[in-house]
Amino acid sequence: MIGFFDSGVGGLSILEEVKKVLPHEDVVYFGDTKNVPYGTRSAQDIIDLSIAAVNFLQQHKPDLLVVACNTATSVAIDELRKQFPQLPIIGVVPVVKTLAERTTVKRAAVCATEATLQSRVYQKLKHDFAGELQILELARPEWVTMVEAGEDDSVALQSSIEVTAKEIEAFGVDVVAFGCTHFSFLRSQMEKVLPNVAILDSGDAVARHILRVLRANHKLRHEDVVGREYFFVSGDERTFSAVATKLLRRQIVARHV
Ligand code: DGL
Repeated sequence: MIGFFDSGVGGLSILEEVKKVLPHEDVVYFGDTKNVPYGTRSAQDIIDLSIAAVNFLQQHKPDLLVVACNTATSVAIDELRKQFPQLPIIGVVPVVKTLAERTTVKRAAVCATEATLQSRVYQKLKHDFAGELQILELARPEWVTMVEAGEDDSVALQSSIEVTAKEIEAFGVDVVAFGCTHFSFLRSQMEKVLPNVAILDSGDAVARHILRVLRANHKLRHEDVVGREYFFVSGDERTFSAVATKLLRRQIVARHV
């Protein structure tokens, strides 16, 4: 069993990548929709909410936990590893190192939450891997809210994406990192308005990392079973189920915890 949590639907973008690589694993997902967004909260709040999320997921005895949220990873992963020392924990962070490897103009953009951009983890990534880069940092809390509400295809969001694309273009970057799992659902809209810019996120790399860890721990399931999935939310289960069904293009039924 692989456990996932995020503030809401964003982490489903990670779950989908993991299911592509590991279709036989059972997965349990917790969306903390009562407390979304995380990205505008204090560090202590994010830590407390992350611990509560992992405590909930522990009931399902996961072999591995995925913090499917850049904000919770950037702010709380050290504390989570301290509190749950027996549990392998994998997080997601903006792909700063990949940005540095991919840009040919030494200019990049990172779209993430305010809390992620201010975190020590992100600042260290920049320091360690992107010292020579000019990085345009963009927090877009309204994108989180709109994706969460199922308004990923709304006119308001489309125009916000267009305004952001202009800003990115004006800064002259050739790569953008989506450092918030909610934003991965906006990838195709962003690619349309920035056809000459590579948009990167962490989903695929995280999925491969999980495969390696499960294999090393001898926890990979037999290939003759289809993985089951369970979804839980702390807020309204009907909204989450409807939005998740739309985003993943398959029926998702969540239960309230
Ligand atoms: N999806 C989350 C992330 O990757 C958090 C969004 C939020 O709750 O602000 O950062």
